[in-house]
Amino acid sequence: MPIYLDHAATTPLRREALEAMLPYLTEHFGNPSSLHGVGRRARAGLDEAHETVAKALGASPREIVITSGGTEANNLAIKGAAWAGKARGHRIIISSVEHHAIGHTVRYLEKFGFEVVELAVDRYGRVDPDEVEAAITPRTILVSIMLANNEVGTIQPIAEIAERVRRYKGVLLHTDAVQAAPYLPIDLASLDVDLLTIAAHKLEGPKGVGALFVRHGTNILAQQQGGSQERYRRAGTEHVAGAVGMARALELAVAERAETAPRLRRLRETFTAAIVAGEGVVETGHPTDRLPGLASFVAPGLDGSAVAMSLDLADLACSTGSACVSGSTEVSHVLTSMGYPAEEARGALRFSLGRTTTEAEIAEAAALALAALAHQREASVALAAQRRATLGRPVGAAAAAEAGVEASAG
Ligand SMILES: Cc1ncc(COP(=O)(O)O)c(C=O)c1O
Repeated sequence: MPIYLDHAATTPLRREALEAMLPYLTEHFGNPSSLHGVGRRARAGLDEAHETVAKALGASPREIVITSGGTEANNLAIKGAAWAGKARGHRIIISSVEHHAIGHTVRYLEKFGFEVVELAVDRYGRVDPDEVEAAITPRTILVSIMLANNEVGTIQPIAEIAERVRRYKGVLLHTDAVQAAPYLPIDLASLDVDLLTIAAHKLEGPKGVGALFVRHGTNILAQQQGGSQERYRRAGTEHVAGAVGMARALELAVAERAETAPRLRRLRETFTAAIVAGEGVVETGHPTDRLPGLASFVAPGLDGSAVAMSLDLADLACSTGSACVSGSTEVSHVLTSMGYPAEEARGALRFSLGRTTTEAEIAEAAALALAALAHQREASVALAAQRRATLGRPVGAAAAAEAGVEASAG
């Protein structure tokens, strides 16, 4: 089995969640909207899932809309709030480090006349609550700032942001808690947000299921039309087994959090100390206000995807801070927003621990990562020396042709 340190991408489905789901994939297969017994049993499972998710978040079951994941919940929050608020205003405020499920959604809304304000972040990826407040105008309808970042783990001062947003009547506050939900305490009775997103597959639940908390009295427009499911907020026959699996996984994550979070923090600190002791690697994100198990770095001058690929060959699964689009590495918008030049951001690496990560895995992963980084460093030094030697030669026809090829591939 490879060492899996990519829990921020997805987690394995935990056995208890699978066991809770199985009856709803087999004997309780009914449609929860059917009136007969088979349907009623599915309905009971779905209702219980709403109750469990609500209890875990300090909400009430009616405030939970079950969706197909974090992306859909974010879309529903942003588009739902935008269209419901259109008569009052058109200004939406986000941060520059949001997940694309927020960033691309607001860019889409710009096409319909909404105005998007993207707030800058500091070197650690944090938004200043004063800047949130300063950006609010009478035309502002929505603020969306994530609870914790998926690339660098930085936790946003969401309670302070909520306190500022609350001073302005009619401005809704959404937070993307997809990465935070497994590891940070979330109590919606005290956290003053109107909308909050979670995704099951980041907390050892199934993929393709998530939830949007919609505070009682918050008006959002449904984004898909059809049946009356989820109290008219999300039409379509529900993924009952998925909802049940998410509820069980979330319930367990919350119950175990007091043990999991400090243990992951210790493991991550050990790992980070080992990695930054290597040559030319620095931690990214906030040094203390960060997700307990998310270790992120840049190795300036190196290609993070080359390091991640060599680690994959050594049976260690990690990721870079950037998304790969058709083979070409796109530089992370999170790191560039934090002030890292593109050449440095290319050296991004992310190792995200999970509940099942062990001390032995961390020791082995640190040794593998240090070896891979040193190897890449040597290779890049050798390559630079070779380039210098090549450029020093008199330029012949073959060399010119080679230079031409290199220029067109760059
Ligand atoms: C912060 C954040 N928001 C939203 C999402 C999207 O969630 P899903 O994969 O469930 O659509 C992710 C997933 O990577 C995420 O990390």
